[in-house]
Amino acid sequence: MQTANDIRRVFLDYFRQQGHEIVPSSPLVPRNDPTLMFVNSGMVQFKNVFTGAEKRDYVRASTAQKCVRAGGKHNDLENVGYTARHHTFFEMLGNFSFGDYFKDRAIELAWNLITREYGLPKDKLTVTVYIDDDEAFNLWKKIAGLPDQRIIRIPTSDNFWAMGDTGPCGPCSEIFYDHGEGIPGGPPGSPDADGDRFIEIWNLVFMQFEQVTKTERINLPRPSIDTGMGLERLAAVLQGKHDNYDIDLMRNLIEASAHASGTDPDGPLNVSHRVIADHLRSSAFLVADGVMPSNDGRGYVLRRIMRRAMRHAHLLGAKDPLMWKLVPALVGEMGQAYPELGRAEAVITETLKLEETRFKQTLETGLKELEGAIATKSGLTADGKLSGSVAFALSDSRGFPLDLTQSILRDKGMEVDVDGFNAELEKQRERSRAAWAGSGEAATEKIWFEIRQRLGATDFLGYSTEKAEGQVLSLVKDGQEVAEAKAGDVVALVANQTPFYGESGGQMGDAGRLVTAGGAVIEVSDTQKKLGDLHVHLGKVVKGHVKAGDAVEMLVDHARRSGLRAHHSATHLLHEALRRRLGTHVTQKGSLVAPDRLRFDFSHTKGMSPEDIAWVEHEVNRRIRANADVATKLMTPDDAIAAGAMALFGEKYGEEVRVVSMGGRESEEPKEFSTELCGGTHVGRTGDIGFLKIVSEGAVGAGLRRIEAVTGAAAEAYVAEQQKQLAEAAAAIKALPQELPARIVSLLEERRKLERELAEARKVIATGGSGAAAEVQDMNGVKFYGRVLEGVPAKELKGMADELKRKLGTGVVALVATADGKASIVVGVTDDLTKRFSAVDLVKAASAAIGGQGGGGRPDMAQAGGPDAARAAEAIAAIEAMLRDHVKAA
Ligand code: ALA
Repeated sequence: MQTANDIRRVFLDYFRQQGHEIVPSSPLVPRNDPTLMFVNSGMVQFKNVFTGAEKRDYVRASTAQKCVRAGGKHNDLENVGYTARHHTFFEMLGNFSFGDYFKDRAIELAWNLITREYGLPKDKLTVTVYIDDDEAFNLWKKIAGLPDQRIIRIPTSDNFWAMGDTGPCGPCSEIFYDHGEGIPGGPPGSPDADGDRFIEIWNLVFMQFEQVTKTERINLPRPSIDTGMGLERLAAVLQGKHDNYDIDLMRNLIEASAHASGTDPDGPLNVSHRVIADHLRSSAFLVADGVMPSNDGRGYVLRRIMRRAMRHAHLLGAKDPLMWKLVPALVGEMGQAYPELGRAEAVITETLKLEETRFKQTLETGLKELEGAIATKSGLTADGKLSGSVAFALSDSRGFPLDLTQSILRDKGMEVDVDGFNAELEKQRERSRAAWAGSGEAATEKIWFEIRQRLGATDFLGYSTEKAEGQVLSLVKDGQEVAEAKAGDVVALVANQTPFYGESGGQMGDAGRLVTAGGAVIEVSDTQKKLGDLHVHLGKVVKGHVKAGDAVEMLVDHARRSGLRAHHSATHLLHEALRRRLGTHVTQKGSLVAPDRLRFDFSHTKGMSPEDIAWVEHEVNRRIRANADVATKLMTPDDAIAAGAMALFGEKYGEEVRVVSMGGRESEEPKEFSTELCGGTHVGRTGDIGFLKIVSEGAVGAGLRRIEAVTGAAAEAYVAEQQKQLAEAAAAIKALPQELPARIVSLLEERRKLERELAEARKVIATGGSGAAAEVQDMNGVKFYGRVLEGVPAKELKGMADELKRKLGTGVVALVATADGKASIVVGVTDDLTKRFSAVDLVKAASAAIGGQGGGGRPDMAQAGGPDAARAAEAIAAIEAMLRDHVKAA
C-alpha cells in the first residue's frame, strides 16, 4: 500500500526530478493576503510571483501545502465528520510554473505522474476542460490519448478557477477518477455529477489573468501554471477506499481517538472519531502557526473547531480531556513532513488541554440547559426552533459557539432561530455601548468605541511576523472617520489584521510603513491600542491616496522592533535578577520599553549598593549568554500564577494570557529563571539581547527605585561613549585611563595641601602684610581694623579675625569676604572691650548694609551674611560709624 506519506514523497520527488524547487508549505495564516482567513490552496504563497510583483530565483516550484477551510466562504465545518470528503484541514499537492511551461507540459507532467508513478489505470480517468479551451482539449487527446467523450467541456465557473474576488485566475482542467459502477453518480457535467462515483482528484489551472477589481481583468505578465491535488482524495483512490477517512493517515488518528476513549472506532460513535481526527489536525496545525483560541477572528474559528471536537469527545464518554492525548499520534503521522508540528508539540498539547479543561466545566451544564429548554418546550419558538435567547445564553455564559449548538440540534433534526440569536447579540452590543457611555471615558475616545464595536478586534500577527498584508477598514482624520486620505494628511488607520504591536504593557508601539496596492504610502510613527484590542496606526500619508477598503502591505520597522524585543526581554531578566538579589518584595511598579533603552521602577526602600548593581548586571548578562530559548505558552491567569508566573498587581488580564519564560534552568532551579505573564514581543533566544548595561539607579518616590538600562547596540554605544569620556579625561591630565584613579586621588591630595597653604598665605597677608598695621585706626584709644577681602572663602574669616585680635591685643576687627556676589562678615571684639561693644550689635549694623537678615554670635565674635557684595565697603563703614558714636558717647 502507498501510505499518505509515500504519496506525498513521490509527488515532491517527481517534481524535483522535473526541475522544480521544493518549497515548504507556508504557514496557515496568510502573510501576503489581506482578506483570506486561512491559506486554502497551494498557490496562495505564490500570489505575488504570478502577478510579477515578487521575483524568486526559480520559475518552477512544487509544494505540499497545509490548508484550512473553516471560516469565511469555504465553511465546511458543519459537514465535517458526516461526509466522505469534507475536512477543515487538508493537504494540497501542487506544481507551479511562473511564466515557464504552460498547458502542454503541465498536462504531460500530470498525466505521467498519475498513470506511471502512481499507476492509476487510464480507463478510470476522465478530464474536463473549460468550454472554449480547444487547446487543452486537443492536448489531452494527444498526450493522454483519451477518447473525445472522456474530455468533457464544462461551461460553468467550475472550470474557471479564481483565488477570490481579486487575484490571479484562469481556465482550468480537472482530472476525475471513476470509482466504478457500484457507486451512484455520473460523469462531470451530467445531472448526477454530484454523486460519489466520479471524484475530482487534480485541478490544473492555466493562470493567464489577474482580476484587479471586480470588473477589471488584465493579462498576467506571462501565462503560468497552478495545480492542486488533495492528498486525502488521492490517497483514497490509491488505497482503494471511497472515503477519505479510511486512508491510513486518518484511520490511525481515528484509532488513536478510539483507543484513548476506550470505544469502538467503527461503532455508532464513528462520526465522533472522524470529527475528532479532522479537528485535531486543524487545531494542532493552527496552534503551531501561532493562532490561539480566542473570542475574535481567527482565534474564534479555532475555538469553534476545538469545542466542536470536544463535544464529540464528550459524546464518546471521555471523563477527562481527550484531544491532547492524541497529539503524539498526529506528530507521529505528520511530524516528518511538517517539522513545525514537532517543534510546537508542547504548546499544542497545553493549548488543547487548557481549552478542553475549561470547556468541560460548562459543557455539561450547558447541555442540561439545552435539553431542559427542548424538553419543556420553554425554549422553543412557535415553529419549533430553539429560540435565539436560549442559543445566545448558551454562547454567552456557557461558551457554546452558535455552530456548536446548531450541530447538537442537527443530531435531533432541529434548528436554531438564527435571526433571534442575532437580535440578542445586537441587544448585548447595545448594553455594552450604554455601559461604556456611562463609564466616563473621554469623549474623544468615543469614535474608537464605535469603530471597535463595528469592526471587532484587530487580528495581531506580530508575534510571528513583521510583515503582512491587511485591508484598511477605517481611516480617522482630525477626529472624524473619513473615506479617504491623501498625501500630507495625518491619519489614524485601522486594518483587519496587523503585524504592528500597539503600545501596551510598557512596550512602545511599532513604527513602520504601509503601502497600498494603489501605491499610496503611509509612514507610521506609532501604533496605539484602543479599548484593549483595536490596533490604531498613527502616521502620515506621504504619497498617493489611501481609501477604506484598500489592501495594504504592512511593514514593521525591523531595527526598531528588534530593539524593542531586546529591551523587553532584558526587562524580564532584570526583574528576576533584582528579586534574587534584593528579595521577593521587589515588584514591578512601572516599565518603559523603548527601542534604545529601558526604564524599570520597582518597590524597594534602600538604594542599591555598587555591589548590588554589579551582581544584578552580571546575573542578567550570564542569562543572556546562556542563550536559551524564550518560550511562550497560553494559559488561564490562574493556572499561570499557580505555575509560578509573575503577574503584575493591578493589571487586567484576559481569559487567556501569554506566559513568557526565559533565562534557562540551572541544575538547582525548579523552573525557568524568569516566568512572567506578558503580551509583549520578545527575542527568540536570550543571546539576541546581546548585552545589558545598567546606566543609573535612583529613588523616584517613597519606597520606589528606578533603574535605567540599555542593551545590544544601545549598550554598545553607551559603553563607547563612556570610554570616550574616560579617554578625554585621561588626556586632559596627560595620564593613561588606567592611571586615572590613582592620579585623581593624588591630585585631590595636592589640591587640599595647596588650599591649606593658600589659606595660610591669605591670613598672613590679611593680618600681617605690609600696610595692615597702617590701616589700624585709633578711635579715642580704641583700635579698629576693617577690611574687605575679595575671593576669600567665608570659612576662613574667623581664623583671621582671631589672629588679628591677638595681634592688636585690644580693639575691634571687622572682615568682609566677598565671593560670587555675596558677602560674609565677621566682627571680633577683644575680651577687654566686650563690655563696651558687642560684636553681635556691630555685625547687625553691617549686615543691614549688605541686605542681610541680621546675624549672630557672641559678644567677642559674631558673623552675618548678605546678598549684596558690591556694598561690602558700606558694611565696614557702618561698623566704623557705630563705633565712633559709641566712643564719642563714652
Ligand atoms: N489553486 C487551484 C485549486 O485550489 C489549484 O484548486
